[in-house]
Amino acid sequence: MEKKIILSGIQATGDLTLGNYLGSINNWVKMQEEYDCYYMIADLHTLTIRNNPEILRENTLKLIALYVAAGLDPDKNIIFIQSHVPAHTRLSWILNCYTYMGELNRMTQFKDKSLKHADNINSGLFTYPVLMAADILVYNADLVPVGDDQKQHLEITRDIAERFNSLYGETFKIPEAYIGKVGARIMGLQNPTSKMSKSAQDPMDKILLTDSEEDIRKKFKKAVTDSENSVRFDKDNKPGVSNLMSIYGILKNKNMEEIEKEFEGQGYGVFKAAVADAVVERLQPIQKKYNELLQNPEKLKAIYERGDKKANEKANLLLKEVYRKVGLIVD
Ligand code: TRP
Repeated sequence: MEKKIILSGIQATGDLTLGNYLGSINNWVKMQEEYDCYYMIADLHTLTIRNNPEILRENTLKLIALYVAAGLDPDKNIIFIQSHVPAHTRLSWILNCYTYMGELNRMTQFKDKSLKHADNINSGLFTYPVLMAADILVYNADLVPVGDDQKQHLEITRDIAERFNSLYGETFKIPEAYIGKVGARIMGLQNPTSKMSKSAQDPMDKILLTDSEEDIRKKFKKAVTDSENSVRFDKDNKPGVSNLMSIYGILKNKNMEEIEKEFEGQGYGVFKAAVADAVVERLQPIQKKYNELLQNPEKLKAIYERGDKKANEKANLLLKEVYRKVGLIVD
């Protein structure tokens, strides 16, 4: 039987956090055996906000290094750069002509980002979900691992695909969201009721994947908890401790009951130190490999060129079919 196809991507906007790792990349690593996986760097989506060009290039390479360092095997996954596969933007133009302004107007991320970047509400920001739809549909992806914040974009992708299919016959596969079981949402260490975000102002709120051991330990030591001093999972009343338990649980492959038992009768000091140990233990080898890869630009280039090539081959097939169906002349 053919393997199912997975596609996902992350924007190249700077330092990734423990939340990105546990919520996405760590899950991707587990899927590489079972599925045909396409993982891209969404550099074109990054252009919807203003970037320093040199830094954008640097961030794109860093993200590729991180994918590989975190365990995505370039032999098993197609790791590529979105802008290196022109079929995405070509399909995106076509899909724009099958997407209504009213639909895009409802996107909550557009509304949020318009507020945040009030001086730069560009049309790329508005049609962002259409490019994302093209990313997904051009590979006939079955499953798309995304966080909560991208669910609406996946819904519009399905709507666009269904609309096109009903006009021109079966063309696109209708993709499904793949929401990881645990760890889909790691919260801030200082603000445990909102998601750990790479754009958080307070450095103590987030663990960067490149943080030193010392910083990691310091940040966990200072993480917000509560006054009960008992390690118990209760998201509503103990969001801080519950978040730390989730982090520990994913890293140690333990459920909440097991963790409660492990730390029974022990205070937060011991628990926090154990969480920090687990994070350091996981991140150190990743950081080592990441730094090695960044020192070796030729190797990085070989990785993405190989992915780019495979992605182009696959994406061009569907693009051609779409061109033909809508009435463009293809050879
Ligand atoms: N919009 C996604 C984000 O900000 C990134 C992304 C771009 C993506 N294209 C995608 C995710 C296709 C999944 C599938 O996180």
